[in-house]
Amino acid sequence: MRFRNFLVTLTRSPIGLIGTIIAGTSGFLIVTLTLWESIGTEQHPYLGIITYMVLPLFFTVGLVLIFLGIRRQRRKRARLAETGEVAAAEYPVVDLNDDRTRAWLVSAGAVGVMAAIVIVMGTAKGVEYVDSNAFCGETCHVMEPEFTAYQRSPHARVHCVECHVGSGARFFLKAKVSGVRQVYRLWTNSYDRPIPTPVQDLRPANATCEHCHWPTKFVGDRTQVNDKFRSDSANTHLQTILLVHVGGETLGESAGIHWHVDPANQVSYRSDPSREDIREVVLTRPDGTEKRWFNSAEPNPRWNANVGFEEEDGEHDRGPAPSDMWRTMDCVDCHNRPTHIYWSPEEAVDNALLRGALPLDLPFVRRESLKLLKTDYESRDEAVAAIADGLTAFYRDSYPELMETRGTEVEAAGELIGLLWETNVFPDMNVTWGTYPEHIGHPGFKGGCLRCHTSNMKTEDGEAVSTDCGNCHQVLAMDRPADQIRLIAEDPSETD
Ligand code: HEC
Ligand code: HEC
Ligand code: HEC
Ligand code: HEC
Ligand code: HEC
Repeated sequence: MRFRNFLVTLTRSPIGLIGTIIAGTSGFLIVTLTLWESIGTEQHPYLGIITYMVLPLFFTVGLVLIFLGIRRQRRKRARLAETGEVAAAEYPVVDLNDDRTRAWLVSAGAVGVMAAIVIVMGTAKGVEYVDSNAFCGETCHVMEPEFTAYQRSPHARVHCVECHVGSGARFFLKAKVSGVRQVYRLWTNSYDRPIPTPVQDLRPANATCEHCHWPTKFVGDRTQVNDKFRSDSANTHLQTILLVHVGGETLGESAGIHWHVDPANQVSYRSDPSREDIREVVLTRPDGTEKRWFNSAEPNPRWNANVGFEEEDGEHDRGPAPSDMWRTMDCVDCHNRPTHIYWSPEEAVDNALLRGALPLDLPFVRRESLKLLKTDYESRDEAVAAIADGLTAFYRDSYPELMETRGTEVEAAGELIGLLWETNVFPDMNVTWGTYPEHIGHPGFKGGCLRCHTSNMKTEDGEAVSTDCGNCHQVLAMDRPADQIRLIAEDPSETD
């Protein structure tokens, strides 16, 4: 009875009635969508924009209307009491015996039900779309570099949200808030170019990567063949072969590189916000004892000054960094590019030569490709045109006979190099070669693992973090011409 009285009060005036319908519907939707999301196994990160931004707005509008309705009623009643008049009816009298009124009511009801179905289906479709990779990666053109680099990775079938949102209440809320903030930045065109990395509030790996990867799985040694080519006229094929000691856990002991993954070996570090310049490293053992190393080298000027770090106020610090960010290592400190894999010009060209996409027998094709790729261009169109023209011009001038017989091949090669440029350099987002460094090895013998594994990283007693090559891998061959690499069993000099 009470509830009915309450409803009657709310809906006594038409304004109150409309307010009640709006607030009721949006309140109902907020509750159902929240429940749906929390019991479902699938994640719907952007659903939050509807659930926590759009619907509450409607809910508030509904409440305001209810309030206005009640106030109007009160005032009116007070006025009537003063003058002693009889109130005029707020609503028309509905006589269900009247055929026209009944027909009208039935059609209004039908339209209402249909509208409700359309709203529910539309919401569901919208949510599905907004969660898709198409939305994360394509609609939102800001993410074009990440999406392109993702599509050529082993995780190209893993949804963005599986690594970037994950499940669990705290990160669920965090993702809502940051999703809302991102949409705001898009609207106001105030997002950063390039998008800063590292992602400071990325979920811990145990809630993302470890959903699919068994962290302490014993991998043992993994062979890694790196194919490269020389910039000579024959584009000589070279190979580096490593036996990478990934290791893992056996009988409760962890060995090899994945020693790092063992919860017993917790490594934390203090660095600048870009995580490139590590100043201090602490190993905490299960019994609570610690071992501490300090970097004796001068702090690096920022390696990657254009990949800033997001401050509390949403600004990005691009100056020399403060060196006081602590972080505990997880998968992403080594595998920081498991899916957004950007190539260096050398990697891009070598990969194309290896696949046969660039003909190996075009003289100096590697050297010329690299030259063209490393030139600065203003825009994508300019780059693609200049690269194609540049390559044909080289062969026309230096190898005119070749150009006559293999002109179409040279043109195709020019197009391919243009494509390599387009899929690694994104001028609109200020992403260029080397914007996002990789941490898994030590390209050029700096960075990556060697951020810590350097002789500059010493304890107070002067003991350095190990720099022994053999701890991490055995180099079986280093930049050796591929046709000189033999199985030991095939080489007569090694068999006796
Ligand atoms: C396999 C896990 C994984 C998937 C799937 C994934 N990401 Fe990432 N993403 C990462 C990691 C790891 C980083 C770098 C984190 C760091 O260095 O702090 C990152 C970084 C980013 C960045 C910051 C810029 C950069 O390149 O460092 C953006 C933007 C981004 N991802 C968007 C996306 C989008 C869009 C998708 C889906 C098309 C996606 N991610 C899919 C793991 C993933
Ligand atoms: C949804 C499941 C899933 C998630 C989440 C996931 N991965 Fe993977 N990952 C895979 C699968 C499947 C493969 C194997 C792909 C293949 O062999 O083509 C793989 C492959 C890999 C490889 C080997 C790549 C290679 O070249 O051999 C690494 C390293 C890796 N993942 C690291 C990560 C890291 C780090 C994260 C978290 C940031 C992560 N993965 C999150 C499913 C996942
Ligand atoms: C100390 C750095 C480091 C950390 C931390 C680390 N890895 Fe690795 N991981 C490597 C290296 C190095 C390899 C060798 C392969 C390579 O070079 O890409 C590797 C290989 C792998 C592979 C491929 C194994 C195979 O069978 O070929 C997977 C999958 C993988 N890691 C997952 C993870 C996951 C998941 C985590 C976090 C729980 C993690 N790694 C933490 C350095 C690391
Ligand atoms: C802390 C571990 C660690 C140490 C120490 C280390 N490396 Fe490496 N190295 C790696 C990892 C990880 C990779 C990347 C493997 C891959 O490509 O997946 C790598 C890659 C390489 C490569 C291949 C690079 C390429 O471009 O093909 C060479 C060569 C190499 N290391 C030589 C050395 C030498 C020589 C030393 C000793 C002076 C050394 N490394 C010390 C971890 C280490
Ligand atoms: C944040 C600092 C840091 C980074 C980055 C780092 N390591 Fe380490 N690593 C350490 C520390 C500290 C130890 C313990 C060294 C010690 O006890 O002397 C260690 C130990 C190791 C060990 C020896 C494990 C054992 O059995 O004793 C290997 C192998 C190793 N790291 C490989 C790597 C590789 C490969 C990378 C890059 C992919 C890497 N590390 C990146 C800090 C780091």
